[in-house]
Amino acid sequence: MKDQLEALRLEIERDVKAAGTLESLDEIETKYLGRKGDLTNLLKGLANVKAEERPLFGQMANQVKEFGLDLIAARREELNREKASKIAETERVDVTEPGIRPPEGHLHLMTQTIREITSIFEKIGFYRPRYPEIDWDYYAFESLNMPGDHPARDDWETFFMDAPVGTGKKQGKMVMTPHTSNAQAHELERHEFPVRMLSIGKCYRRQSDATHAPMFHQFEGLLVDKGVNLTHLRGILDYFAREFFGPGRVSRIRPHHFRFTEPSFEVDFSCGVCNATGMVNGQKCKLCKRGWLELGGAGMVHPNVLKASGVDPNKYSGFAFGWGIERLAMMKEGTRLDDIRILYQNDVRFLKQF
Ligand code: PHE
Repeated sequence: MKDQLEALRLEIERDVKAAGTLESLDEIETKYLGRKGDLTNLLKGLANVKAEERPLFGQMANQVKEFGLDLIAARREELNREKASKIAETERVDVTEPGIRPPEGHLHLMTQTIREITSIFEKIGFYRPRYPEIDWDYYAFESLNMPGDHPARDDWETFFMDAPVGTGKKQGKMVMTPHTSNAQAHELERHEFPVRMLSIGKCYRRQSDATHAPMFHQFEGLLVDKGVNLTHLRGILDYFAREFFGPGRVSRIRPHHFRFTEPSFEVDFSCGVCNATGMVNGQKCKLCKRGWLELGGAGMVHPNVLKASGVDPNKYSGFAFGWGIERLAMMKEGTRLDDIRILYQNDVRFLKQF
């Protein structure tokens, strides 16, 4: 029995030394020292040993077991250390290596343009309230001197909401605002003067082609106070031309018709490419074709619009203007957009140019 135990001890020693992985160590432990392992089997032979010799062999067996366990534990630690040092070698982090720059976004061209317009008008005292982009017919049309069924309404190809019809100021159907002029009545109803409003919002019309998108942005300027006249409007238009497009740029107005302004105008800005001549090196200017860039509407606020909001047209007067922001951005030389809809296709290759 003594020889057998000694042989077992040697076997364990040999195997543990040769074990190259933590898994094989586990196997060795089970094989020799486990509940059904070699040592347990050997001890079954104690039954055939003389009674007085049993304690001695029992003690020897325990020594073998302890010896084995210690040896395995030491080897296990050794293997763990080796493994850790290998990781340190293969997975080393070089903190001095240049980092990988994650892709970085930026503001959409429309957001940039809106911020630019806002800051231009802020400088001359305009504030920017927010009014609904889904509004009652009253604000979109009725208050703007366009009673129900008036044919002028057809100019705004309007989306109507499938919602109950309102009464009073909330009169008629709700609409997805086809222009930002609905802000005029909202602002005038506050009866706080002077009104120097710049309202920027989304507009919706049933249209889609190279120069029209079903959703677009407008900004609505409204200045109402005592003694406001057309020269003030002209001054503001020229101020905007210089600030937005650059020095030397001017505006012009042409007679037009809107129900909510009288007189009404269309506003153009001198083209920066051909300098309002319409010609570049003997050829038609590619940007404007005629020297001027057509922008949008303007005019002196119609007395009926003031009256609708309880403002006395004999005391107060003012002007309003409403322009598309996409158009404005497209008119800046250098933008070179020939289809407005590309702004909303979310193609990053296009958007990141701005
Ligand atoms: N609301 C008009 C449009 O959408 C523009 C406009 C605004 C005209 C203010 C005159 C005064 O076409």
